Amino acid sequence: MSHLRIFSDTDPDALLLARDEHAAIASELAHIGVRFERWQATQPLPANAGQEEVFAAYRADIDRLVAENGFRSVDVVSIAPDHPQREALRAKFLDEHTHAEDEVRFFVAGTGLFFLHVGDRVYELLCEQGDLIGVPDGATHWFDMGTEPDFTAIRFFTRPDGWVGHFTGSDIAQRFPRYEPGRSGT
Ligand SMILES: [Fe+2]
Repeated sequence: MSHLRIFSDTDPDALLLARDEHAAIASELAHIGVRFERWQATQPLPANAGQEEVFAAYRADIDRLVAENGFRSVDVVSIAPDHPQREALRAKFLDEHTHAEDEVRFFVAGTGLFFLHVGDRVYELLCEQGDLIGVPDGATHWFDMGTEPDFTAIRFFTRPDGWVGHFTGSDIAQRFPRYEPGRSGT
């Protein structure tokens, strides 16, 4: 189940707030400019659905988001637990960074754990099937797909080079828990 936990950025054991009801999560995230929506597929999607089938199942929401934000390209990415580059893919965005454009992802299947560092707080958001997250440009964050990554996501891009990570040099991500699916609370 999707959840949001908010911590002090100086103490990963200091849980300030926890939410697992979607509207409550969306409300908390809206305060920091993060978009969080739930989308419903308009047709059944097989586990091995191709990109065009995925687009067709979420066409109205995709078109709305593209019209609102001016995204130039949309694609679908899948990562399986036995992906040969899973360790490198996981490591790529495990430290705190920003992007020059919004990081917008819709989880068609599977899960992933986002951390947003805003002010003196860290927001830990578990995304699962049906969740859309929009991290605004410039927001400091990191992402953990876990040791056995397993998700399919729709990605939205404004510029071909927009999703380059600009790392802050902070080690804050290493002081917070990593993603361990099945761990109590996640
Ligand atoms: Fe990122």
